[in-house]
Amino acid sequence: MKYLITGGAGYIGSFMVKRLLEKGDEVVVIDNLERGHEEAVEKSAILYTGNLLDKEFITKVFLENKFDGVIHFAGFISMGESMENPYIYFQNNVFSSLNLIEEMIKTNTNNLIFSSTAGVYGNPTTIPIPEDHPKNPENPYSESKLM
Ligand SMILES: NC(=O)c1ccc[n+]([C@@H]2O[C@H](COP(=O)([O-])OP(=O)(O)OC[C@H]3O[C@@H](n4cnc5c(N)ncnc54)[C@H](O)[C@@H]3O)[C@@H](O)[C@H]2O)c1
Repeated sequence: MKYLITGGAGYIGSFMVKRLLEKGDEVVVIDNLERGHEEAVEKSAILYTGNLLDKEFITKVFLENKFDGVIHFAGFISMGESMENPYIYFQNNVFSSLNLIEEMIKTNTNNLIFSSTAGVYGNPTTIPIPEDHPKNPENPYSESKLM
């Protein structure tokens, strides 16, 4: 199987890349390296350095590859920073996801795993949190993930 891992040079994404390669899958990474590290990307993965806010860049990646699935980790992740600068959280987390989904629809790429946050549930009333727990994000980061 061939997977696209967005944010594959980041903390969680780079481990996902390793696990998929160990399993024998082919892996392509999109990361702009703004908050990730090129050295964290396994050499046997193909790294496209670019921004998901750049539609032409995404189209190029999808023209050059046919993916069985996409795992979307790329985004900003700090609750505190999102309180100080909500704009960049909605811009990066919402618009880049829309660009990615638009390209997936165009190319008939139908399998997406989205890395959300438990923050979408806010202060939970039940633990463990069931998936159908009411959503009550308490900061722009979590709000952008829910959106
Ligand atoms: N770390 C956690 O505890 C945690 C918990 C729950 C959910 N998540 C989610 O998992 C995902 C990965 O988290 P992480 O801790 O690995 O974060 P991270 O910051 O280490 O990795 C994110 C990567 O995405 C890249 N990126 C960001 N915006 C981009 C863009 N527009 N185009 C291309 N690349 C871009 C960054 O350069 C970085 O390498 C995030 O979506 C986060 O919301 C993380």
